[in-house]
Amino acid sequence: MSFLSFLPLQTADLAIDLGTANTVVYVKGHGIALAEPSVVTLENIDGIKRVRAVGDDAKLMMGKTPDKVETIRPLRHGVIADLEIAEEMLKHFIAKARTNVGLRMRGSPEIVICVPAGSTSVERRAIRDAASNAGARKVFLIDEAMAAAIGADLPVIEPVGSMVVDIGGGSTEVGVLSVGGMAVTLSARTGGDQMDDAIAAFVRRNHNLVIGEATAERVKKEIGAATIMPDAPQMDARIRGRDVVRGVPTEKIITQGEVVEALSESVGQIVETVRRALEITAPEIAADIIERGIVLTGGGSLLQGLELVLADETGLPVFRADDPLNCVARGAGQTLEDTAYRGVLHTA
Ligand SMILES: Nc1ncnc2c1ncn2[C@@H]1O[C@H](COP(=O)(O)OP(=O)(O)OP(=O)(O)O)[C@@H](O)[C@H]1O
Ligand SMILES: [Mg+2]
Repeated sequence: MSFLSFLPLQTADLAIDLGTANTVVYVKGHGIALAEPSVVTLENIDGIKRVRAVGDDAKLMMGKTPDKVETIRPLRHGVIADLEIAEEMLKHFIAKARTNVGLRMRGSPEIVICVPAGSTSVERRAIRDAASNAGARKVFLIDEAMAAAIGADLPVIEPVGSMVVDIGGGSTEVGVLSVGGMAVTLSARTGGDQMDDAIAAFVRRNHNLVIGEATAERVKKEIGAATIMPDAPQMDARIRGRDVVRGVPTEKIITQGEVVEALSESVGQIVETVRRALEITAPEIAADIIERGIVLTGGGSLLQGLELVLADETGLPVFRADDPLNCVARGAGQTLEDTAYRGVLHTA
């Protein structure tokens, strides 16, 4: 008898933010039950591929795997790039989330799963199918920006306009919401991944050093900023990689000013997307946004100083939501807890 047999038997509906960088699972009645990187490690044994690790364990192996082992991120820009592996990953996370909250499954759950606004019908279908094949009885879709806004406690059902900007690993979603619907949605394929790539490219160009994705991300989180922060001490970070010229492992120092420069294009694209959304927002809703400001969610919103740059460029108040990495899953989860939100869900 497995230890799972001792867990209580229940059907628990789930809300899932299947993100490019992280998957977050919300279990109805329990809250956030799991948040792990959307990464899978595959092992090739005699031509047959087998999942070796998923999530946190798989991310630790990124960039360090031998020949017959590969780490895969099955999502790109918020949409599924590798369906089979995305399904495997989802099944693993659903089972783990249940174990984390001490539930054993009876029947199959309803699953609310988030989709980016810019996704095509084929891409949405792939996300639906992944959830169905992972065991859902019924699948509902929710726009990521809508979920983010609910998770950030914005009054999305009321006749009050709000703007949310969700900056993820693979995409930036801008949503203007009012009366339970999306008045404006814009999605740009820019986010944390692009920032990491920009840092790696900068380091290669200016320091003749090749660094991996994980190192670039660490530098971004440690000293990354959207602008030079006034009155804050300038920081720098040690980076290790391979010297382009000599081909040997080398350590160098990168300054915060350099990282700001490397990130300027990504930051500019986020600003531009927000500006375009404001331009096409109806005047009455715009009036509400002037009063209530713009709310930032998603891991990318943790970039230091991003709210200052956006406030400066738009002339509007800008706030970062609490716990921005879990906002989308928390908001999607609210639609399971509170029937008032049922109207924001769709089935295709
Ligand atoms: N302190 C930080 N500073 C800057 N970026 C950060 C910080 N913490 C996390 N991030 C970045 O946030 C991104 C992940 O955010 P999030 O989990 O919201 O994305 P996602 O939902 O998986 O992606 P998407 O919504 O595009 O599918 C990563 O690129 C990560 O490097
Ligand atoms: Mg996201």
